[in-house]
Amino acid sequence: MRIEMLMGVATSATQIEGGDKNNTWYRFSKTGKCVDGTNCLRAADHYNRYMEDIDLMASLGVEIYRMSLEWSRIEPQKGVFNKEAIDHYRDELEYFIEKGIKPLVTLHHFSDPIWFADMGGFEKKKNVKYFLEYVEKVIESFGDIVSEFVTINEPNVYILNGYMLAYWPPLRGNYIAGFRVCKNMARCHIGAYKLIHKMREEKGYKDTKVSFANHMVYFVPKNEKNPIHRFCTAFYEYLFHTMINNSFYEGKTPLFMGKRLESGKYYDFIGINYYTRRAIGYFTSNEYKGESKSDLNWDIYPEGIRLITEDLYKKFKKEVYITENGVCDKNDILREKYIKDHIRELVYEGSPVTRYYHWSFLDNFEWREGEHARFGLVHVNYETQKRTVRKSAEFYKRLIKEKSTELLE
Ligand code: BGC
Repeated sequence: MRIEMLMGVATSATQIEGGDKNNTWYRFSKTGKCVDGTNCLRAADHYNRYMEDIDLMASLGVEIYRMSLEWSRIEPQKGVFNKEAIDHYRDELEYFIEKGIKPLVTLHHFSDPIWFADMGGFEKKKNVKYFLEYVEKVIESFGDIVSEFVTINEPNVYILNGYMLAYWPPLRGNYIAGFRVCKNMARCHIGAYKLIHKMREEKGYKDTKVSFANHMVYFVPKNEKNPIHRFCTAFYEYLFHTMINNSFYEGKTPLFMGKRLESGKYYDFIGINYYTRRAIGYFTSNEYKGESKSDLNWDIYPEGIRLITEDLYKKFKKEVYITENGVCDKNDILREKYIKDHIRELVYEGSPVTRYYHWSFLDNFEWREGEHARFGLVHVNYETQKRTVRKSAEFYKRLIKEKSTELLE
């Protein structure tokens, strides 16, 4: 059988670019808070090496690329837009397009400009307008060459780690604040969805696609027979998935958050980031003790990607983009099989999946884990910045070229 979906790779700006000191992750990581003591200042130096990286990506035959823009580079101070950064991203995007690689651009991927965070960030309703001003600038600058956008990456992970667990910036540790952020981020997503469509449609473009990407985990009760574990699993399912999906896709914020947002359909595709299965106990989320594990001890459960896809498709009925899927595997022992097993789950008669973006193209700065966790198809030596194509990338290259399910066996 032929694999019909487009296949490519994904990254995010803060994780690969290096060099920016105006974002919250730089401020957080430079104080030694990352597990391995590294920070995001050097990363993979992609900001300077983007041409070399795009050439490498093109040599792998990649068809589509999901990347993000660093808001704090484009707007380093409130209301001050940086022409150098805008020109840089335009050159980069044009180079992708010249190479035949279609970009999907994420507007917010975990990192905030420091000025925005210090004004209360997404916790304040009045700050929604700053996000929308940035979006307007992006569409003004690139709306003629980019038609596809992810507004916000994984609001659930951003809220959980930054606001509820206080593990990531801004280290808030306040659940109520987390719910406020959820509602304001949904406002940002809906506002951006409408704005991007309006601005591009006014210019006569009809191919606009906008959505967001949520982190989807396959949750199971730690002990299937324990009713409290089963209840807690449903609770996690609601908080981490349903509440966010309903709020962003349809404006249906839960009643405990106050007046609902305007209901509608604010998505042109369903964006799924999928990595793992987790076991839910007494209000705790734990590593699932399965047979196969990544370097970060994440359970590998390929079936989950199909079960989650089918579930979301049934509910929201739009084509599905797997906006992220990948494995932390320094020695490249698991990656080829991981790719095969997950893609196999997505290719069947009537599958709604039209895109697959493997995470990640390059080894990158893995947020609080720092540089040690390696998700790349391409190995990066951070000291020398030398790139080495891993064996699994050679396999992925062949898969993209041949698009045959025989290679998945
Ligand atoms: C994030 C990426 C991250 C990846 C692996 C996703 O949650 O969007 O930024 O690197 O997972 O942890």
